[in-house]
Amino acid sequence: MRKLLKWIGIVLGGLVGLFILAFVIVLIASNSRMNKTYDIQVETVAVPADAEAIALGEHLAVIRGCTDCHYKNLGGGIFIDDPALGTLYAANLTPGEGGIGNYSDEDWVRAIRHGVGPDGKPLLWMPAQEFYYLNDTDLGALIAYLRTITAVDNQNPDNTLRPLGRVLFLAGQLDLLPVELIDHEGSRPPAVAVGVTAEYGEYLAVGCTGCHGPGFSGGPIPGAPPDWPPAANLTPSGHLADWSEDEFLAAFRTGVKPTGEQFTENMPYKAVGQMTDDELKAVWLFLQSLPSKETGNR
Ligand code: HEC
Ligand code: HEC
Repeated sequence: MRKLLKWIGIVLGGLVGLFILAFVIVLIASNSRMNKTYDIQVETVAVPADAEAIALGEHLAVIRGCTDCHYKNLGGGIFIDDPALGTLYAANLTPGEGGIGNYSDEDWVRAIRHGVGPDGKPLLWMPAQEFYYLNDTDLGALIAYLRTITAVDNQNPDNTLRPLGRVLFLAGQLDLLPVELIDHEGSRPPAVAVGVTAEYGEYLAVGCTGCHGPGFSGGPIPGAPPDWPPAANLTPSGHLADWSEDEFLAAFRTGVKPTGEQFTENMPYKAVGQMTDDELKAVWLFLQSLPSKETGNR
């Protein structure tokens, strides 16, 4: 009996030891990626100061989702607060206390296009892999607008990433480090002419891919809290096959789909609904041009 207890003790002790070892390895591996320093050659982007450019920048801050994550006043705040994954804060983008009033143009470009902070460290979860596609005109206008926003005093606490969040990140299930998803040295994507075309629609729809997947086939959203519905399939195999262009526009203006069903609050329909008719028509044309894909094939 004594011998058996001793063996159970050894096995349990061993398991606890292995568990601690695994935890330490996860901690070291995730920290080393999150604390890596990137020396990015930042492109020079002209930042205009005219009212037209600032108005375009304000429009982009809404339709490209900056105001969804960084809050309406861009003063930032809690972005993810999950007992298992961690707590992450979207930065205060204003010149107020806790904000980034001291950012140079270069700092703005490095953060938005490359996902790297002024200290060379990666920005967590900030979807720079999508904003990388913003052309110089749009990025310049966005920065011009961000330089005019009202100061908000908000000092965010530090981000914390909990063990499950770290394990999922290491397993490639969470796009925690957009910096790793970008070819920083590659040539810039060609600028797409503004117009009611599928090509321009694709440029606008880059921001849909984080939830609807790169192939727009929807399915469970990586890293989303468990109570979120899966993203819809936007290819012709999904419900959009039964919608008309008019119904597509109307759904975003009213929040109600042609079936009479409401969009959920998880789908940023209010922000997308701020697109102009021409922008929404371009997105519609692009979605129509997609090959059919089974739901969830991302
Ligand atoms: C999906 C959510 C999300 C969206 C959309 C988003 N951001 Fe962020 N952003 C974040 C998070 C989270 C951080 C904080 C990163 C960190 O703390 O490491 C951040 C950080 C930043 C920073 C770095 C600030 C600093 O303290 O150095 C800038 C600049 C920024 N975002 C600008 C933008 C702009 C401009 C847009 C729209 C084009 C945008 N973000 C859209 C989530 C988002
Ligand atoms: C933050 C995540 C997120 C982003 C970003 C996002 N969506 Fe969605 N979308 C969802 C979710 C979740 C659903 C399913 C729930 C619902 O219909 O409200 C959805 C549903 C939809 C539907 C309804 C389709 C149907 O079959 O009912 C359309 C249309 C749509 N999205 C278009 C877009 C477009 C266009 C963009 C980009 C401009 C976009 N979404 C960006 C999460 C997102």
